[in-house]
Amino acid sequence: MRLLFLGDMVGKTGRTAVYDQLPKLRKKLQADFVIVNGENAAAGFGITRKILNETLEAGADVVTSGNHAFDQKETLGWADEEDAFLRPANFPAGTPGRGSNLCEARNGARVLVANIMGRLFMHPDLGDPFQSAEQQLAACPLGEGADAIVIDFHAEATSEKQCFGHFVDGRASFVVGTHTHIPTADHQVLPAGTAYISDAGMCGDYDSSIGMDKEEPLNRFLTKLPKARMEPATGPATVCGVLVVTDDSTGLATAIEPVRTGGRLSEIWPGI
Ligand SMILES: [Fe+2]
Ligand SMILES: [Fe+2]
Repeated sequence: MRLLFLGDMVGKTGRTAVYDQLPKLRKKLQADFVIVNGENAAAGFGITRKILNETLEAGADVVTSGNHAFDQKETLGWADEEDAFLRPANFPAGTPGRGSNLCEARNGARVLVANIMGRLFMHPDLGDPFQSAEQQLAACPLGEGADAIVIDFHAEATSEKQCFGHFVDGRASFVVGTHTHIPTADHQVLPAGTAYISDAGMCGDYDSSIGMDKEEPLNRFLTKLPKARMEPATGPATVCGVLVVTDDSTGLATAIEPVRTGGRLSEIWPGI
């Protein structure tokens, strides 16, 4: 099975690049299942129902999120009704929406997608991400309840991300890090068969500060004073993602390679 993940869409340039590229990517890479992180899609902060639907129409099967899940207040109103939208599973009990979903891929396979958030340098009060994963995997084990399991681990610290990958190694098909918006070069199949990357990178303008127009973030580093609102950068976006191939008999990964197209970063096409 071929799983395609695209990193955080940032602002209009990020989402329009995904709308434009995803139908072609889906075809070219023969993806059976596509996940896109949408936590920064609406002007850099959160996601609207309209953007969720546009992303699904472009070819995503599931849209994940993270710490910005509810930046748009309207999301609280529809998160319970949209099964294709995930917010972190370890948010407090009673938070609208869901943290995981067992989906049917277009090839008929059952894919469990979970969105879990790290705590280090983020929100220490969140539920334990490792326990959250343990619960999800116990409820729906790979090869029994699901033919593939993908976890979007939304976290700041690469140490926490790596440890999380090792924790679920052999029990999930793919752990993809998100949130830092910068693609890492450590994609690999871990020893027990879980594909892993510390960060998929973003779908956004890389002439920026992690997707936001660089002027205001730089001003805040220099003066410690806010001068203006943070706005997404508007230059051409690089669509950054990762392609994973799994063995249909085990659900474990056999290969993982990055995908990058458009904008300022060098083009990369998977050879798998
Ligand atoms: Fe993000
Ligand atoms: Fe984030």
